[in-house]
Amino acid sequence: TYHTPERTPANELPICAIAIDVLRATSTIAAALKSGAEAIQAFSNMDMLMEVSDKWPSELRLRGGERGGAKVVGCDLGNSPLDCTPEVVGGKRLFISTTNGTRTLQRIQDAKIVLAAALVNRQAIVDYVIAQEPETVWMVGSGWEGDYSLEDSVCAGAIADSIITKLNVPLSDVAGNDELVASIALYRQWKDNLLDLFYLASHGQRLVRLECFADLKFCATPDTLDIIPIQTSVGVLQAHSH
Ligand code: MLT
Repeated sequence: TYHTPERTPANELPICAIAIDVLRATSTIAAALKSGAEAIQAFSNMDMLMEVSDKWPSELRLRGGERGGAKVVGCDLGNSPLDCTPEVVGGKRLFISTTNGTRTLQRIQDAKIVLAAALVNRQAIVDYVIAQEPETVWMVGSGWEGDYSLEDSVCAGAIADSIITKLNVPLSDVAGNDELVASIALYRQWKDNLLDLFYLASHGQRLVRLECFADLKFCATPDTLDIIPIQTSVGVLQAHSH
């Protein structure tokens, strides 16, 4: 199924929950782990991030903070996946707090399997889900402060479309899940022009105003990173070895 954090069922959890924040938190998480970050520790609250990261050896930590798309003063990094080079993040733990993405991770942190997905690591996530065959899967799109977002929906559609195509499942098998059917339709309509779609999105527009053109292009390009960010303890994501 596909939800926004505010609309996930209150008293249930799936076996596998996938956080999606294509612009840009889950793209950044995938990029940082691919570049050899030891782990990502996500916080919805900036004060908590500072308190916990203070206890970590300073040479082994980085702080990433984003609010409204911009870097938080006092942090080493904002939320650009392009800053996460091996030279910068290799061997370090990235303590990160973003406007929406880290809140989504917190909402689903008690599921048995928690993953972070973006378009950049879509294929790796699809292969993992197919191999694990979890009975229930939620994809949770972060959106913006509770609102729907095109980029997270199209990513959910990209994941679902790939899974049903690989498993040879007809679209009628997901009938009744309106959000999921809509996200697959959105992906099928835009799959060859994902960057154009991102320019139409409200957060895409916000990032254009912040001149994050290269980030938009990077985040709109599917299947560039073979990495599965998986929660290994509450709030901590590491690269799944496969
Ligand atoms: C978020 O968590 O809202 C985003 O990742 C915002 C961004 O930095 O683009």
